[in-house]
Amino acid sequence: MNQEFIEDISSIDLKDLISKHECRRVFLVTVKDGAYVNSGAKEYIELALEGLEYVRFYDFEQNPKYEDAIKGVELFEQAKCDLMIAIGGGSVIDMAKLINVFTANSFLNSLDIIQNPKLIQNKGKTMIAIPTTSGTGSEATHFAVVYHQKKKYSVAHESILPDIAGLNYRFTITKPKYLTATTGLDAFSQAIESYWSVGSTSESKEYSKEAIQLLVKYLSKAVNSADVESRKAVMKGAFLAGKAINISKTTAAHAVSYAFTTYYSIPHGHAVFLTLPEFFEYNQGVDENDMNDSRGVDYTRDNMHELCKLLGVSCALEGKIFLREYAKEIGIELSLEKLGISDYKEKIIDNVNMERLGNNPRKITKEGLVTLLKSKQD
Ligand SMILES: [Fe+2]
Repeated sequence: MNQEFIEDISSIDLKDLISKHECRRVFLVTVKDGAYVNSGAKEYIELALEGLEYVRFYDFEQNPKYEDAIKGVELFEQAKCDLMIAIGGGSVIDMAKLINVFTANSFLNSLDIIQNPKLIQNKGKTMIAIPTTSGTGSEATHFAVVYHQKKKYSVAHESILPDIAGLNYRFTITKPKYLTATTGLDAFSQAIESYWSVGSTSESKEYSKEAIQLLVKYLSKAVNSADVESRKAVMKGAFLAGKAINISKTTAAHAVSYAFTTYYSIPHGHAVFLTLPEFFEYNQGVDENDMNDSRGVDYTRDNMHELCKLLGVSCALEGKIFLREYAKEIGIELSLEKLGISDYKEKIIDNVNMERLGNNPRKITKEGLVTLLKSKQD
């Protein structure tokens, strides 16, 4: 499915888009009042929806829960909306995707959908996604994360991809430094992982490459000085990284990260970067015995070489050091010890997402993971 992309979408652009779709009533998904007002999203959307009927859904926590999505479905059906607009971070966009797909396939039990997304038959209403953070790239992907009974599911189906993605860097201006840093590192990691993923294609690598170039140059500036140029560039970088993983999916650093978030409440982008530098060095050491990409060892080594060039370093060891320094420069602590993570053997290693790990170009055993995590402390 193709997606329409609008860079720097204004309230007027959005108003025009809505009138083009001749909708009767809009279903709007946002965060709760505080961030909705502070980011400027409320003012922006009210201008775009002036004179139109709309229903706003915001009664849910971060990291979408299945039960909350069902509440949204009930409201969506009751209100008979015919256009979906999501304006917010990754959780808001994922929530809108879930409500849209569950409603369009209401002849199925939604629990069956999250367990087996292949059952999905119908596409939902036209959906416009406008991110207010630069990170997950959810506006550019056909996946939605949902939690049910503390278990995380990634619902993936081509019909879930938003029809239109619009970027507007102004929403990120008021975001605190730590949030800008962690969401930016999520995007940076997604771009790098996508490049070396066994699911990469020449198209996804082009998106990754452009995203890496933007994020290397502008993320630190966006965090530390928050100027317009860097905020704009980081938002575009996050969108491109989203387009890249939409094709390739993520790999080992994401596979290990979820347990850091579940057991130690480390925000996603921070959690992902806890092992990305180590995997950068690890993947360079691929050989015939642990190769995971059917395109061969040389192909993966060449990819790593290209990635080194994109980071401006000459080898994977330097790449690891570069990435560690990069995180430090934007105030992100990478030491497990300092973050209070000591018992990682049970909590982290036993809860690795095996599907994501299977996308890594070099296989790794549980013992290998322990060694990799231990090497962080050395
Ligand atoms: Fe991510």
